[in-house]
Amino acid sequence: MSVSPDYKDYSAKPPGTEAAKANSLYEFLRNRVLYDTILLPYGLLRHRRLLKKSKRVNDHTYTCFLRGPAQLRLLTGPVLDFIRPQGRLDITLLACSNGAETYTIASVLRKTHPDLDFHIYASDLHQSMIDRAKAAEYSSDEVLHSVYMTEEFLQDTFLAQGDSYVVRPELREYVSFSQANLLDGETLRAKFGQSPLVIAQNVLFHLTPEDTASAFDNLVSLLAPRGVLLIEGMQLDLRVALTKKYGLSPFTQNLRQIFQETRVHTPPHWWRVYWGTEPFLFWRKDRARRYGTAFKRDEGTSY
Ligand SMILES: C[S@@+](CC[C@H](N)C(=O)[O-])C[C@H]1O[C@@H](n2cnc3c(N)ncnc32)[C@H](O)[C@@H]1O
Repeated sequence: MSVSPDYKDYSAKPPGTEAAKANSLYEFLRNRVLYDTILLPYGLLRHRRLLKKSKRVNDHTYTCFLRGPAQLRLLTGPVLDFIRPQGRLDITLLACSNGAETYTIASVLRKTHPDLDFHIYASDLHQSMIDRAKAAEYSSDEVLHSVYMTEEFLQDTFLAQGDSYVVRPELREYVSFSQANLLDGETLRAKFGQSPLVIAQNVLFHLTPEDTASAFDNLVSLLAPRGVLLIEGMQLDLRVALTKKYGLSPFTQNLRQIFQETRVHTPPHWWRVYWGTEPFLFWRKDRARRYGTAFKRDEGTSY
């Protein structure tokens, strides 16, 4: 199947489109006051029902360069401090879409830790996405639609070629791409082995609860005894249950901001799509597990 990144239904749009021209006061009143507060009980109910009956699809390939800068700061700070890489840090990244997330992480790691020896082994279900990622050439819409984009990141990551943005050759040395299915644990383990950093973001919410549990089992099996799992974008109650099951503990630094940045991309009326997420609710039980996107496993953890 051939798929390509699609902005339909997502809030962060290519620059210049009508949808991208936001009226911020109007947006604040609609999103935070109306949708996230006044209509909250209705939204929670509707979303719970939707999650029960909705058919999941595997061809939502929306992605973004510099999608969540607060999570990147967590990665380059507390997460790396925890991993304490000895020798080369091998990173396994699944569901990479067109490569935007992979090149973003490579660029930011190289910038913040110039002496760090690392390699990102990235993969996606769809060969067409792998071909796009390997080509490493993007349109301005694909590169610029992040609300967090900076000139510094553009300079660090791309060379301009006509209307295109081409990933710097020196950055491409840090990554490789291949096809892989999150649900095929045996092949994943044979291909990637275990690594101290495993990343599978904004994909688990596209799986049924049963498939999410299988995929999560596979992800944990790819994780080194002392390792970190980055899992933005999964059904929140499943995140609580599965991280508990495997004895993974959340990084709690900047929890709320990191979670809120994940919501920038989903529609304001979040209950209308199964991959939408409720706002950060202080009264939720297991708040750090529910809203956390980075989890650690320490040596000796058993489950
Ligand atoms: C919404 S994109 C997320 C891309 C990127 N990780 C990010 O966070 O921006 C979801 C990706 O998951 C991939 N995908 C869906 N089902 C998969 C599976 N079973 N195994 C591996 N990748 C899958 C899709 O092809 C798509 O590229």
